[in-house]
Amino acid sequence: MNPELQRLQPYPFEKLAELKRGVNPPAARDPIALSVGEPRQSAPGFILEELATHLHGVAAYPLTRGTRGLRTAVGDWLARRFGLARESIDPERNVLPVNGTREALFAFAQCVVDRGRDPLVVMPNPFYQIYEGAVLLAGAEPAYLNCVARNGFIPDFDAVPEEVWGRCQLLYVCSPGNPTGAVIETTTLQSLIELAHRHDFVIASDECYSEIYPDEDNPPPGLLSAAAAMGNTRYQRCVVFHSLSKRSNAPGLRSGFVAGDAGILKQFLLYRTYHGCAMAPPVQAASTRAWREEAHVEANRELYRRKFEAVLQILGPAMQVDRPQAGFYLWPETPIDDREFARELYARTNVTVLPGSFLSRNADGINPGERRVRIALVPPLDECVDAAKRIREVVTSL
Ligand SMILES: Cc1ncc(COP(=O)(O)O)c(C=O)c1O
Repeated sequence: MNPELQRLQPYPFEKLAELKRGVNPPAARDPIALSVGEPRQSAPGFILEELATHLHGVAAYPLTRGTRGLRTAVGDWLARRFGLARESIDPERNVLPVNGTREALFAFAQCVVDRGRDPLVVMPNPFYQIYEGAVLLAGAEPAYLNCVARNGFIPDFDAVPEEVWGRCQLLYVCSPGNPTGAVIETTTLQSLIELAHRHDFVIASDECYSEIYPDEDNPPPGLLSAAAAMGNTRYQRCVVFHSLSKRSNAPGLRSGFVAGDAGILKQFLLYRTYHGCAMAPPVQAASTRAWREEAHVEANRELYRRKFEAVLQILGPAMQVDRPQAGFYLWPETPIDDREFARELYARTNVTVLPGSFLSRNADGINPGERRVRIALVPPLDECVDAAKRIREVVTSL
């Protein structure tokens, strides 16, 4: 067997199941899961219609690069959303469909990392767990950059030693961040692009929460808009990852895309051709439509706004919790150890949240997930409100 498999950590939800084992929550209280980042609003009807209309597509093998129609819809969306010059996104060269960003974020490291050059991959801490697994299975060493409140939950990139950048082959960034919701500003993204040029590494920007934000007039910037604004209109060393899972409430569709540097995407297409991960034709048709529709995304944002409003009113006076810049998570401090808190909350109220330390590692003498929990505001509004009251009940009793 591949010895690197031994280096993988149990996934956070396995750790959570272990934590909850043997605990009997009160049966009189309905279970509420705020632990998984899975939107529970219905997917828009047109996605289902497009899937049904295109079912006959299963009779043919799809191309790994997807249909021109899908890549064009993605290019149009990117140009509209991030203010990019339309001609800078060539559907033939700058866009590839992926079956959700999870597989793409994983596969990307396998494609980019050169095992023969003592590879290091830099990532935020806490982080979406796929980055670490991808890095370990690519034979690289992960380097964790702590995201702490003092720095607005953005890594202190300036404090990273030159030797680290020197060995870095790939940098994962996540903006808006999971679990912190922190948004990396354009100027910071631009300084990362400069570093990438100087030290010859690639930036993988995970932007799958980019469409969940509070202010309609102030959407989070992205790596491509940052690159274009500094004259890098060929997006050299930049690749972004976008998803319909959160944007369009369609996590089961398994649909996203990568876009950016044509030279890197050419190699990634080669990798993917052998890996065998073409998108099913009905999914391509539904995705093409979804990237052309915005009304359901706006409605979605409005719903999250109402949830944050209601939940923060309840939790704000009871615990240290901030409204995130974007995304659908809260990342509050816990009055006791985060694992103990999650266990206690479940035992007393049948509400499940994710201990922060399950999403982070010890680095530079601290574990930035300790004494925090991740709360996903994905259930319907009334359930979120009910859960918030139960959380407050436990916090105030401790
Ligand atoms: C930060 C982040 N990136 C990527 C993903 C993967 O999303 P998908 O594979 O559904 O596109 C998730 C899912 O929770 C996530 O939180």
